[in-house]
Amino acid sequence: MEAMASVDFGNFFISTLLCLLSTLFLFLFFSKKPKKNGVNLPPSPPSLPIIGHVHHLFSGSVHKSFQKISSKYGPFLHLRIFNVPIVLVSSASVAYEIFKDHDMSVSSHDAIGMEECLVFGSFGFTNAPYGDYWKSSSLTNMLGPQALERSRGVRAAEMERFYRDLLDKAMKKQSVEIGEEAMRLVNSIFGKMSMGSSFSEDNNEEKVSEFSVKFAALTQKIFLAQILRKPLEKFGISPFKKEVMDVSYEFEEMLERIIVKYEEKVNEHHRSEIMDTLLAAYRDQNAECKITRKHIKAIIAELLFGAGDTSSKSTQWAMAEIINNPKILERLREEIDSVVGRTRLVQETDLPKLPYLQAVIKESLRLHPPGALLPREFDQGCKIGGFYIPKGTSLVINAYAVMRDADSWTDPDEFKPERFLMQEEERREKVLNFLPFGAGRRGCPGSNLGYILIGTAIGVMVQCFDWEIEGDYVNMEEASGRPFLAMAHPLNCVPLPRILNPLPSSL
Ligand code: HEM
Repeated sequence: MEAMASVDFGNFFISTLLCLLSTLFLFLFFSKKPKKNGVNLPPSPPSLPIIGHVHHLFSGSVHKSFQKISSKYGPFLHLRIFNVPIVLVSSASVAYEIFKDHDMSVSSHDAIGMEECLVFGSFGFTNAPYGDYWKSSSLTNMLGPQALERSRGVRAAEMERFYRDLLDKAMKKQSVEIGEEAMRLVNSIFGKMSMGSSFSEDNNEEKVSEFSVKFAALTQKIFLAQILRKPLEKFGISPFKKEVMDVSYEFEEMLERIIVKYEEKVNEHHRSEIMDTLLAAYRDQNAECKITRKHIKAIIAELLFGAGDTSSKSTQWAMAEIINNPKILERLREEIDSVVGRTRLVQETDLPKLPYLQAVIKESLRLHPPGALLPREFDQGCKIGGFYIPKGTSLVINAYAVMRDADSWTDPDEFKPERFLMQEEERREKVLNFLPFGAGRRGCPGSNLGYILIGTAIGVMVQCFDWEIEGDYVNMEEASGRPFLAMAHPLNCVPLPRILNPLPSSL
């Protein structure tokens, strides 16, 4: 017994010593502080040794955990993820100062450490350095007002199909999941806008929706990979890389097949201005900025993901708010009936004449922004709010918290669309506090298209159907553990035809 006890004690001692030494090693390794060249960082909440504030990232939704830390310790904080400094902004006034005075310094994104990944890798838009002329100018051309005007027919035809699918389900008294229907709609619209009629073959619409769902489920891990990349890359560790890359390769193969078909049937099918622009740039041997086939696929993948997941989630949240607020539903219907009538389907050219519908959508985006967190990086040192933030510091703007900041919004947690019917000057002042599409140079280039997609989808659902839900209210709980804000209980409801014989929209 005695011998055993001494052996156990010896083992215990050695293990403890090893533990202490490795902890000390890790501590010394990770606790290398950022250089302090006149650095005066914002306040920092209490942190744990070695890991800093990492534990906050694992307790439920990251945006809500950050909002909680900020309401306790202040709206402008300095956090530490191991030895990597992050500045967290949760107030409208600091966000305003950053976008107004320092936008150029925060116009890049931190890499996720998976260069080859189609979405958020180094071939698409999101991680291209600001100033990459070709990418930014082609984005503006592809999603600008004139290009959108030229592709209006594609959207009108898909919107009519959306209405007919819902009507079919209504006749069968079938329940629909609004998020799924909206995802199918947006994917087929953007798929056709970007890949022409080749997109409609081989069940590609379903496949893209599957990809979007798989990729959306991985975004929490991608977000963590981005944050943990700097401390872990010293050990050659790239967290979650295999899982993310498997989905990316699968999607890349599918896009390659579609592009090959597109090229084969040059004269036979409905063309896409976006694909033609990309292929022309790829084939141009003398182009100033040469792009590869991988660039084309990454750009399409990012646009599909950027459009599909965000717009479908936003449509679902907006519809849930409308169903929970019968008076708002009534007012929306009055507006649509008086502007559009009941003999044709609402269409995107009606939207400017439907201010209340627009206000409802904005208010829903304010409370439920799919991109709740806006991650950026300081390219240069900046003085903000009396503090000095050094170059290379990561920045996270909590758009969710900014848009619920009580100093900037009256009754910030309540759904009040009327607030967006205010006068022009007031609206201009508020614009930098309203961040569902981010802001500044790296703000969302698809915001116009996003408003069109959500506006027409909600318009059709409100104009043509009543909606029956189980119980009295839609449960508005947020899903935890995702950087893209999603409903914990997806919205299921049964459409009941409201207009008995609506005529199709005139294209
Ligand atoms: C409701 C719909 C949408 C929402 C809420 C949304 C939201 C966002 C947000 C928050 C960002 C980051 C902005 C920042 O860092 O300041 C972003 C970026 C982006 N979005 Fe959207 N988006 C939507 C629709 C779209 C659509 C329809 C497209 C294109 C078809 C699109 C393409 C992009 C792209 C390419 C970026 C990256 C831009 C860059 O890094 O320069 N988005 N979006």
